[in-house]
Amino acid sequence: MDCQITHVSACQCDGDAIVVAIFADGVLEGAAAEVNEATGGVLSQLYETQELKGSHGELTTILAPAGVQARQIVVVGLGDRETLQRGCVFKAAGAAARRLAEKPRRSVAFYFEAEIAADFCADGVAGAIVGCVGQDLYRADKTRHPFESIFWCGGTEDDVRAGQIMGDSVNLTRRLVNEPASEIYPISFATACETLASETGLEIEVWDQKRLEQERCGALLGVSQGSAQPPRLVILKHQGGKKEDAPLALVGKGVTFDSGGLSLKPSDGMKAMKCDMAGAATVVGAMHAIALEKVPVNVIGLVGLVENMVSGASYKLGDVLTARNGKTIEVLNTDAEGRLVLADVLDVAIEQGADRIVDLATLTGACLVALGTDVAGLMTNNQGWCEQIADAAQNVGEAAWQLPMFREYGEQIKSQVADIKNIGEGRWGGAITAAKFLEEFVGETAWVHMDIAGPAFSEKPKAWVDAGGSGAFVRTLVEVAKKS
Ligand code: BES
Ligand code: MN
Ligand code: ZN
Repeated sequence: MDCQITHVSACQCDGDAIVVAIFADGVLEGAAAEVNEATGGVLSQLYETQELKGSHGELTTILAPAGVQARQIVVVGLGDRETLQRGCVFKAAGAAARRLAEKPRRSVAFYFEAEIAADFCADGVAGAIVGCVGQDLYRADKTRHPFESIFWCGGTEDDVRAGQIMGDSVNLTRRLVNEPASEIYPISFATACETLASETGLEIEVWDQKRLEQERCGALLGVSQGSAQPPRLVILKHQGGKKEDAPLALVGKGVTFDSGGLSLKPSDGMKAMKCDMAGAATVVGAMHAIALEKVPVNVIGLVGLVENMVSGASYKLGDVLTARNGKTIEVLNTDAEGRLVLADVLDVAIEQGADRIVDLATLTGACLVALGTDVAGLMTNNQGWCEQIADAAQNVGEAAWQLPMFREYGEQIKSQVADIKNIGEGRWGGAITAAKFLEEFVGETAWVHMDIAGPAFSEKPKAWVDAGGSGAFVRTLVEVAKKS
């Protein structure tokens, strides 16, 4: 997609559509005022009759408007002027783009009020790029048609470029999640990482089965052993800071399909389990943006890639695995596999010299029960680091909420036969007992675990993004890197 700044005024723009933003206060300024005047007061009339409210995400299409060159105007509400945030702009631009992408369009120009457009240019461009791309990868009759060109009024060339990088990065994550497990399995995911590395200049290391054995990644290998697809561990390195600076590590769960293993999921629970590599895909999307934006920080992305399958070779209940850090783990549920994969990858992150870690994982259904489908759970061993992550999420408008890590919950993962077991006592507090398990593998290193089981993948579309992989938290991770 071609993205550019435009200096043509809203009324003169002769593209397929212009998108004009308004606020809930009814005050028309900038492009909205200009369009209102040129159309003989259409917007103010619509406000007066309450046809337009300007509430956040409200979409109104005006076809073939007289006085304006473009073939249609989409008016999008931004809500409250005083509390406008980056996430509002991302979502508003996304919603307008998603609506317009129902039909093929050559060019769409976004006119938000001048000052707003400048401050939020990158977020708006990113939202538009995300909004116009769908999940219908294998439909002949597409439901979404990405625009050929996007024009943004306000901001700088650099802002547009940053927005384009961000939009493309979120869409990269979405595509990896939306591809079925027949297409994205550990080897093909690793190949996608290699392609990414060669396009962005990231350094890459790929560990195959043999290397994983040499590295004694017994927990990850235990999960993988029932699958016909061999595992991979990928390390992506971005050298943006000084050589001696310890890197930030982004760690992702990459279970390319989670059948549950011998603790087999029921069919309904398995339907969406191609999404169980969303943590890894989020890390990859963020590394894509961090590399292309040349963020001046050292960042490493590590993803553990396995398939959790059923076969004669599957790991079994009661098996004891030895993780890379030497801890022994009694497996009492083969469907609690994500924490086993992460155990070894977290250990590698620490060995790579990381002094702060964020891991992302579609880890527990319990997190969905606790926080609902739209909110990620944050769990940590370091309150200050957790607040940095929470602030970054808040800044970009992605919903995350901290869950407690009470010491008592750690008692639940004690085992009679090994150092720890891979499930707690019963279902309650399952998001936290999973995090308590992960905590065993990070030592004193500042670490935040993000359980994205809810927000990573949605059954229903949002106004600003199609259903399926959401690309949630790519923007948060990039913000974390920029601020750290
Ligand atoms: N991948 C699932 C968690 C999940 C559930 C992600 C729903 C997205 C949507 C994970 O591997 C899993 O199966 N967790 C179990 C843990 C349990 C066995 C302790 C769960 O949540 O039921
Ligand atoms: Mn599972
Ligand atoms: Zn899983």
